[in-house]
Parts: sequence; C-alpha cells; structure tokens
Amino acid sequence: GAVALDELIAGLTVDVPDHPEPGVVFRDLTPVFADGPVFRRVVDALAAPQLADPRAAALGAADGGQGFDVVVGVEARGFLLAAAVALDAGVGVVPVRKAGKLPRERIAADYALEYGTATLELHADSVRPGQRVLVVDDVLATGGTLEAAVALVEQLGGVVTAVSVVVELAALGGRQRLAPHAVHALWTT
Ligand code: PRP
Ligand code: ADE
Repeated sequence: GAVALDELIAGLTVDVPDHPEPGVVFRDLTPVFADGPVFRRVVDALAAPQLADPRAAALGAADGGQGFDVVVGVEARGFLLAAAVALDAGVGVVPVRKAGKLPRERIAADYALEYGTATLELHADSVRPGQRVLVVDDVLATGGTLEAAVALVEQLGGVVTAVSVVVELAALGGRQRLAPHAVHALWTT
C-alpha cells in the first residue's frame, strides 16, 4: 500500500494510560486487528523476517526461503496473529499457554513481564528437535514473555529462526534481552 505499515499501525493503536496498573501505558492493538486490510498487511509482514536471517536462509534452502516449519504463538493476543501467519505460510501453529491450560505432558517456564509475573507452558511433543520455529506475539515490552517462550521452544530442541512482533517498545529493552535472536518488529516506538 501507499501508506507505510508502521504509520498505519501507529495510527490505529490506542494508548491507555495506567492500564492494567498505574504507570503502564497500555498499547491496545485491537483496532489494528479489526481493520481487514491492515491486518492482512500485518500478517504478511510478520512472516517476512526469515528471508533476512542468515541462519534461516541456510536451514531453509529447500523450502522456498520461508525459513520456518511451524509458528508458535503466545497466549492470548499472540494467538490471533500466529494462526493467521501459519495458515498463510502453509505450516502449523503451536500454542504457548498460560499455566494450567494445556492438558498433556508439558514443560513450563516462570517469567516476569512489564506488569506482573506468570508461567508459560508448552506441550512436550509440540516442537520436534531441529524444527525451525517462528515465534509470534503482538507486543515486545520487557521481553520477559518472549524470552520464556523462546526458552521453552529451545528446551524441546526447536530452532528459533526469528521472533516477530507488531509493536516493539524500545525503551524497555526487549530486543537486547532476546539477543542473539533476531527480532522483527513492524513498528518500533
Ligand atoms: C502481553 C503481550 C505480550 C507481553 C509482553 O501479554 O501480549 O505477550 O505482555 O510483555 P513483556 O515483553 O514485558 O513480557 P499479557 O501477559 O498481558 O497477556 P494476554 O496476551 O493474554 O493479554
Ligand atoms: N505487554 C507488556 N507491556 C505492554 C504494554 N505497555 N501494552 C500492551 N501490552 C503490553
């Protein structure tokens, strides 16, 4: 489109001061998801970083350059994005869930995020050793959530070829925290 995607995302995102607790400016992306043409572009763009990641290119020589075999999405907002990206790419989607939701054998990681602490879980058989994984979420803030999600994938032997987010809150340092993993953000603010 003629208008840059980061400008469209910035224009649709609603800042909510003091949610869910005092001092946090909550970035509400629901209007971004609700806009059909913008959502289309967001989903396309989230799948794009693989082409720029040399590890993904090396691993993905046989797959047309897509560079991932499965998409992992983080509950709950990440689910909205991960399923769309996976469907588009013709691969499957795997959920990283908050504690107590996955019914079978699972691994768990405790983490802290901008406004609290929690536990994430992943089914033990949901990622196979050597599988190339694109991890998707809506917001990268402190990076605590995505660091935990990446650790779970890697504990199962998955190769995280990139982490894609719609919005990166740069002041909170999430990108540095996730290094050396490549972070692909559609809007950095
Ligand atoms: C939000 C967001 C990210 C995370 C980012 O999820 O969707 O997953 O916080 O914060 P961090 O970088 O500081 O870890 P939240 O836990 O609020 O859950 P939700 O998606 O279920 O609303
Ligand atoms: N997750 C962590 N921090 C956030 C913020 N400021 N806005 C939306 N989601 C978040």
